[in-house]
Amino acid sequence: MNFEPNYQTMKNDIGTLKDVEFLVDQFYLAVQHDPFIGPIFNDRLSGRWEVHHKKLYRFWHTVLLRRPDYYGDPVPIHFQMNINDLHFNQWLMIWVKIVDENFEGTIAERAKLRGKTMANAFLEKILKNAKQENQTK
Ligand code: HEM
Repeated sequence: MNFEPNYQTMKNDIGTLKDVEFLVDQFYLAVQHDPFIGPIFNDRLSGRWEVHHKKLYRFWHTVLLRRPDYYGDPVPIHFQMNINDLHFNQWLMIWVKIVDENFEGTIAERAKLRGKTMANAFLEKILKNAKQENQTK
């Protein structure tokens, strides 16, 4: 029996800004090609992908490595996108898959957990906002 760790198949954890950038790049590459949620991003971000990536590097750097780099409230920008729980499920499915394919460790687990809790929180706020808008119509 060999109880030595198999370093060849072990993945690294997310540890640096470079890792965060790689993760964000891989994620949005998959998102762009997703037939369900891809068009929402592509329609809105056409010609502005680079700026979006830079923002999301800072966002995830703040969340994962706790380097305060992103300021602001990212939720309201999602209000007019007409997105629901099915979109968020797909978003989360892709996020978890990309994290798992590329990293493993404590921060990778944090990435998946925070992805899940934030997707739920965003959705809740979006639904609440839609309800309020309906009531004021
Ligand atoms: C299906 C679900 C989602 C869709 C379709 C979506 C779509 C988008 C789009 C199109 C933008 C760019 C808006 C613009 O600049 O005009 C954006 C921005 C952003 N999204 Fe999402 N998003 C989703 C879920 C999430 C989740 C779960 C998170 C967090 C974990 C997130 C974090 C952000 C952040 C941080 C920004 C930048 C906000 C800013 O301008 O400061 N998104 N999203």
